[in-house]
Amino acid sequence: MPTVTYHHDGGTADVLDVEPGTSLMRAAVRNGVRGIVGECGGQAMCATCHVYVRDPYLGALPDISEDEEEMLDCTTAPRDADRSRLGCQVVVGPDLDEIEVDVPASQV
Ligand code: FES
Repeated sequence: MPTVTYHHDGGTADVLDVEPGTSLMRAAVRNGVRGIVGECGGQAMCATCHVYVRDPYLGALPDISEDEEEMLDCTTAPRDADRSRLGCQVVVGPDLDEIEVDVPASQV
């Protein structure tokens, strides 16, 4: 089963085994990972699922859609040109069986 690691300020982390086909946002909300809100339910309309993807995993990510691109300009924490993604738009599965992300200090 894919593994997702959510790193927090201060050096703590949540490590989850996640069903394939699940987004980083959905897995975080279901498991009470702090710092991921997912207010719009995964429609790429709120930007409260913003994460910074760690370097080794950037190459395995899907392209950024037009909707995600627009919302990434609305994040509360500063956008990182390379590493910022919406957690609801990144889904684990055969092409992405492990990923580590940093959770921003604030989403709202
Ligand atoms: S949950 Fe709203 S943009 Fe991801």
